[in-house]
Amino acid sequence: MSAVEILGRLTLEEKASLCLGSGMWHTAPMPRLGVPAVMVADGPHGLRRQPDAGDPVGIGGSLPATCFPTASALGSSWDPDLVERVGRAIGVEARAQGVVVVLGPGINIKRSPLCGRNFEYYSEDPLLSGVLGAALVQGLQGEGVGACVKHFAANNQETDRLRVSADVDERTLREIYLPAFEHVVARARPWMVMCAYNRVNGVHASQNAWLLTDVLRQQWGFDGLVVSDWGAVHDRVAALAAGLDLEMPPNLGVSDAAVVAAVRAGELDERLLDRAVRRVLELAEKATNIAPAEGFDAAAHHELARAAAAESAVLLKNDGVLPLRPAAGDLLAVVGEFARTPRFQGAGSSQVNPTRVDIPLDELRAAVPPGVEVAFAADLADEAVALARRAGTVVFFAGLRPAAESEGFDREHMDLPADQVALLARLAEVNPRIVVVLANGSAVRLSTWEHHAAAILECWLSGQAAGGAVADLLLGAANPSGRLAETLPIRLEDSPAYLNFPGEAGHVRYGEGVFVGYRGYDAVGREVSYPFGHGLSYTTFAYDDLRVAVTGRVVDENLAVAVTCTVTNTGERAGKEVVQLYVGDPDARVARPIRELRAFTKVALEPGQAATVTFHLDARDLSYWSTAHGRWIVEGGTFEIAVGASSRDLRLTTTVDVSAPPLRARLDAMATLEEWLADPEAADAVRQAVGGEPGGVPHGILGDPELMRVLGNFPLGSLATFPGLGFDRTVVSQLVERFAGERSR
Ligand code: BGC
Repeated sequence: MSAVEILGRLTLEEKASLCLGSGMWHTAPMPRLGVPAVMVADGPHGLRRQPDAGDPVGIGGSLPATCFPTASALGSSWDPDLVERVGRAIGVEARAQGVVVVLGPGINIKRSPLCGRNFEYYSEDPLLSGVLGAALVQGLQGEGVGACVKHFAANNQETDRLRVSADVDERTLREIYLPAFEHVVARARPWMVMCAYNRVNGVHASQNAWLLTDVLRQQWGFDGLVVSDWGAVHDRVAALAAGLDLEMPPNLGVSDAAVVAAVRAGELDERLLDRAVRRVLELAEKATNIAPAEGFDAAAHHELARAAAAESAVLLKNDGVLPLRPAAGDLLAVVGEFARTPRFQGAGSSQVNPTRVDIPLDELRAAVPPGVEVAFAADLADEAVALARRAGTVVFFAGLRPAAESEGFDREHMDLPADQVALLARLAEVNPRIVVVLANGSAVRLSTWEHHAAAILECWLSGQAAGGAVADLLLGAANPSGRLAETLPIRLEDSPAYLNFPGEAGHVRYGEGVFVGYRGYDAVGREVSYPFGHGLSYTTFAYDDLRVAVTGRVVDENLAVAVTCTVTNTGERAGKEVVQLYVGDPDARVARPIRELRAFTKVALEPGQAATVTFHLDARDLSYWSTAHGRWIVEGGTFEIAVGASSRDLRLTTTVDVSAPPLRARLDAMATLEEWLADPEAADAVRQAVGGEPGGVPHGILGDPELMRVLGNFPLGSLATFPGLGFDRTVVSQLVERFAGERSR
């Protein structure tokens, strides 16, 4: 039976039961009509499938699964093909474990370095988040299982996360916090979207009709199922009406009873309930098409996790000490407990029970040439210093301890533990060749200690195979190719959201507007430790021959800008470069970021090899969101196009002229005289109405430049109250009547 046929046979009570789960991880079954329960499980960087008798809050042990690099690491890979392969592997594991939908990816924007869940998110940039999020969805769904994009929307902190209202203006939502979701919905068609816990501009995301229906379904065309975050529903009836299909975990006996009562009382249109139930039934229908897998190849998935970790590490600094070239007789000192007890994922709902874990120290020992001694010292500072004094090179494993960052709370600072910083200073006194290997999910401050390091390799929380990947990178078996997906500020206080994070009294004001991450640092010319997009390689790349070709027109809705350049590997090793394209609109009439990432690609090049890279932009890539006009707007004029290796390492720049229809203000009594005069046709009408000799000095304010300067920004309706300026109520209402509505778009 189809979903529609089943729907027709359900009682009201049965319908109400279907729009709630039946437990922590299952939708409700309807055995008499052959509807199975559908199992969902957390991701996003590996499966957290709980055993059937799972603990009540669902955080406890789960079945073994491959722990891939977390999103903060995968985000730094800038490699959608890689992320898609990871998605496929997780999809296979889901099929092997009976999971229908994987609860990921998380694509919220990293607004502040302090967000406790930043390790689960890709980037401070919406394009990078959207492209990588879509890749994960495509990988999962390519295996026939569903993905659930989360947390929709503006869930950018953990503080007070179930109640706080993210107070964000619409332009900022449209340009920063929504585009990643829009991209994933449009490009990858996820089966599910999970609403956020928080409120958005006062309304709970679970009950926010503007988000869940107007934007998500009507404007973006989402046709899947909207599920609540676990426990995010406060009023089931309001949530249903707003477009939330499935409540998880189910508030059994309460939510279903409320829905039945609301329909009976005529307070909830039964068609809204039917809509939600149909989507749940459609999900169950999809579930029946999944081909179960006979287990999965844990060794192959571990190898993929290792390759992914290697692709994701960012070489922040290197004075030439890396790659290490140890020879027989050398002593390599390895310092820091993380070398022996690695930290490779974050805590909370995304925590995976790994199939195995690579130990960095063991991996290094196995990878160095015969005769090289790899000696270890943990936190025992004196022992470590004594070892460092004897060693040729020191590899110091540093990072955040598990208690420092997690789902559920935000960080209070972005410093490494003080004992690590102190030990590093002591090590540097006895050995100048110190390589710092970092393991942390969210950004840490480097400016207080980085002068002690000859090289810094940021590995993020890079999954169960991170240890092997670190050995590969340090010894040059792999060439670093990760790039920062977020800016590393000199001080926390420099970060654009600093003064408005995490809010108070139930509200967090997104006061920095669209100036999030590099958009904010660049706008005020603030120095940073390492900029968005930065990352070194063991080889070098040259950029040449930037060309731009414009075809089509904004007015015909077919504008296309093709940007081409050549990238050459000028070093002696094979390597990968992330070519980044930024666009700026320096003459914009609204405040816009100086540059915004609009395209990127990762190219693999052998020594001496060159590749031609082509990017395709459209009108949206040049646009800003106008809240007044309710749409994306391209202002005609000159745009800056820059291609480079980071947001502050722009190698090639050019400009391109684009013409677009002039933007006209809405001409009503509240439009200012200047706005009326800016519109050629309306200006003629105003001049005629105010009068004056043709060709001579106009009457009233129009003939008095001094008055124009002072009162030109008065609305026409207000000018009518001043005698002698040439306007009265009749003149204004005639003008308004003639132009009303016409100039609003
Ligand atoms: C998290 C979600 C997760 C869900 C189920 C919530 O606390 O915010 O990301 O998918 O729990 O574990």
